[in-house]
Amino acid sequence: MATILAIETSCDETAVAIVNNRQVLSNVVSSQIPLHQRYGGIVPEVASRQHVETLNAAITQALVQANLGWADIDGIAATCAPGLVGALLVGLTAAKTLALLHQKPLIGVHHLEGHIYASYLTAPDLQPPFLCLLVSGGHTSLIDVKDCGDYEILGQTRDDAAGEAFDKVARLMGLGYPGGPIIDQLAAQGSASAFPLPEGQVSLPEGGFHPYDSSFSGLKTAVLRLTQKLQAQKLQAGDNSLPVADLAASFQETVARALTKRAIACALDYGLNTIAVGGGVAANSGLRRHLQQAAEVHNLRVLFPPLKFCTDNAAMIACAAADHLERGHISPLTLGVQSRMAISDVMQLYNVYG
Ligand code: KG4
Ligand code: ZN
Repeated sequence: MATILAIETSCDETAVAIVNNRQVLSNVVSSQIPLHQRYGGIVPEVASRQHVETLNAAITQALVQANLGWADIDGIAATCAPGLVGALLVGLTAAKTLALLHQKPLIGVHHLEGHIYASYLTAPDLQPPFLCLLVSGGHTSLIDVKDCGDYEILGQTRDDAAGEAFDKVARLMGLGYPGGPIIDQLAAQGSASAFPLPEGQVSLPEGGFHPYDSSFSGLKTAVLRLTQKLQAQKLQAGDNSLPVADLAASFQETVARALTKRAIACALDYGLNTIAVGGGVAANSGLRRHLQQAAEVHNLRVLFPPLKFCTDNAAMIACAAADHLERGHISPLTLGVQSRMAISDVMQLYNVYG
């Protein structure tokens, strides 16, 4: 299998990795989180500028870590959609320049396909078809993985993504950014049954609920109302502290239960016996516990990549690119970036040879 150098700059991590045959030879991730923390969220222009500052050093570091030179690299990959346009442009332009300079094929990669491929890094024996539960800061989807480049969305969020809900709830509780890891840590000290919260089901016009779609914005609003009510009660009693651990645990429990129910129902209905979880929220301890337990009951295999491959990284992008290159899927040097792109359209990124 080909040795791929991949660049990931779709959001707030500048990442470069080299992967061969699903083996990670180097994995450099420079996080911008401290830079964005003071704004309480990602500032796109700041992200693009920081990618420009960091990328060259990250590429050199990836080659040095892998002990390889350009002659050893068979293809250059970059995330080209979806994501922040300015941030994506930095990575894709660098990849195009390197491809031209070193006469290597260019492979543009869909960011969500990368998150799916994180599972292959952990379980190289994994074969489609399987179900991917993709839960990140921007997406919450249940994807039928049929083959490399062949995906069908079976369920998704109608509003906020799961990670976005964690970030917004953390912000409204005054906990800082990014919210997921902070809520996860706090939840360990709280009671998950302290506050019952709505699971965010999506009603169907004909009655009943969509079995696989979610809506997390109602849950976020419920936490906001609850927080305001608790604050008012506390103030009356001359106390301004909030039961943040109980709130975090109850919120996390609700999200984990909702995602687990939908993923299990979807896997069983479609006869898919493996659920591979991807995206930053796959790091969540509540989701891991719930899904693992439910999967055992239903005799399903569940795969959680290690934390470093759950959040944004370039190893997952390189892994996806290697599969595409092997199938003769190469991107034209005229490839552009897109802020939005359905995963079912990934084959639009390639000229197909061979
Ligand atoms: O996949 P990712 O690194 O970037 C996107 O493609 O969006 O995901 C980032 C998201 C953030 O919303 C962050 O709060 C969430 O993943 N996250 C978590 C945890 N670690 C990161 N959410 C819940 N629990 C965690 N432990
Ligand atoms: Zn991501």
